This record gives sequence, C-alpha cells and structure tokens, in this order.
Amino acid sequence: MHAHIDDDDFATALEKAAFALRRSQRVAVLTGAGISAESGIPTFRASDGLWENHPIEDVATPSGFARNPELVWRFYNARRVAAARALPNLGHHALVKLEQHFAGNFTLITQNVDAMHTTAGNRNVLELHGCLRRTRCLGCEQILDGDLIDLGPEPLCSDCGGRLRPDIVWFHEMLPEGIWESAAEAVLECQTLLVVGTSAVVYPAAGLIPLALDKHPPAMVIEVNLTKTAASKRVDVGLYGPAGEMLPRLLCAANIGVNG
Ligand code: OAD
Repeated sequence: MHAHIDDDDFATALEKAAFALRRSQRVAVLTGAGISAESGIPTFRASDGLWENHPIEDVATPSGFARNPELVWRFYNARRVAAARALPNLGHHALVKLEQHFAGNFTLITQNVDAMHTTAGNRNVLELHGCLRRTRCLGCEQILDGDLIDLGPEPLCSDCGGRLRPDIVWFHEMLPEGIWESAAEAVLECQTLLVVGTSAVVYPAAGLIPLALDKHPPAMVIEVNLTKTAASKRVDVGLYGPAGEMLPRLLCAANIGVNG
C-alpha cells in the first residue's frame, strides 16, 4: 500500500518537475559525484568513497601536496586512469539532450573533475573544481590540458622544469578566477535549476541552491538524487532514484529529446 502512495507522490513530483522545465526559457544544472556513480566512478562521501584510504588532508589540500607530492600524484594518477576508462551513462546523455533542447540558454555547472560531461557532449560546462585532464606548473603557472594518462610520481613542466600539480581546486583553495561569477549569473538568469547527485554540503557550490531559491522571482529547484540531502528541505521538488533513470524519465515527461 505504501508503494502505491509513493508511486502517486513520484508521479506528481515528475509532472511538477517536467512542467517547470517545459515553461523555462533558461535552465541551469548543478551536478556532483552522484551523476558519475553509474559510470563506476565512486562518490566522495559514500563508504566506498575515494578518500577511504587517505584522509582528505593528505590528498586534497595544498599542505598535503607540499608534504608528500608523490602520494598526491599517485592518488590523482589513479583517478585519471579510472576516469579514462569510464563511459558516460544515461544521466550524462540526458543532460546533453537537455542542452541541445535549450540551445544557448543552458549552463551546466559541475563539481566533478572527471571530464565526463564534456566527453558525453555537453558544451557549456563550468568546472567549478577544476579538471583531472589539466595540470598546472608551480614554476611558470602554465595550465596544460592533456590525456587522462598516468603521469608518474613526479611530473615536471616541459617548458620550465617546474613541478606540476593537478589543476584541481583543493580544500582551503579558491575557485578559478571568474568561474563563480559565471555560475552565479547562470543561476540568477535561469527559471529552473536542476541539482543532480550532490550531497550539497561543500561550499560555495552548494550556495547556488539558495541563490536560485531566494532570487526574485525564484527559480524552480529540482533535486535528483539517490537519497534526500542537506538541500532537500528547501528544494521545490525531488526525484529520488538513480540519476541514470530519473533524468531520462524527466526528459521524457517534459517531452524533451524524444526525437533525437
Ligand atoms: P558527494 O560524494 O558528497 O555526494 C554524492 C551524492 O550523490 C550523494 O548525495 C549521493 O546520495 C548521490 N548519489 C550517489 N549515487 C547516485 C546516483 N546513481 N544517482 C543520483 N545520485 C547519486 O559528492 P559531491 O556533492 O559532488 O570537491 O561532493 C562535492 C565536493 O566534495 C566534490 O566536488 C569534491 C568533494 O570534496 C573537491 O574535490 C574540491
């Protein structure tokens, strides 16, 4: 009997979310690790998460890198190789269809560093936390884009010989210049913000959700997640289940991308 009630609730939520998308001119999306979970890339805060064998302080802070760059590079090399092997899933593909539907009126803001959204085919992507593909030279500060290969324990800049680091935003670091402004602008201009697969506890990214809700007029905020999160109480509608299932269902209900 409960299942029956849940089915009704889900159908109502799906219709509400689909209606919001249908009447929107501009859409923004915020994604987190959950969108890549079905591609086999572990999330951060799950018990099988990436940090399992390493305290965050060791592998995702500037001081951790200063203490033991080889450990940090081993960690990121493993993540680069894992990301190279992974394939975009149905959730990523649904977001490509969503961008095609909204053409120039779509911004995908991601906290992920796995490059899966661009691999899937999204174009207007803001990578808030950097990207595994890129390295940054601590000597000449040049940022290089490359393949997702193992760079070894002590990669050096081919131009100046300086030490390279992953171009990832670590804890205690600022976001890349200008990216927050672009993300905030996309959220302030949208009528619907879709929040997918994030625990919504890491700031400033999580702050995009209240930004959407508190502006005038507010955007409709749709959460897609396996479970309820820190943001669930405030969002307008939640679709709880795997993103690879929920996003295609949402697009189908909104009649988006059915012919392409
Ligand atoms: P988290 O690991 O904190 O949260 C992942 C979220 O995805 C959780 O809310 C899960 O319930 C949800 N989830 C898992 N599988 C899912 C699925 N198949 N479909 C839908 N949802 C699913 O990851 P983030 O919120 O992305 O920062 O973490 C934010 C930041 O914290 C990361 O960017 C990273 C980390 O520290 C840096 O590296 C700077």
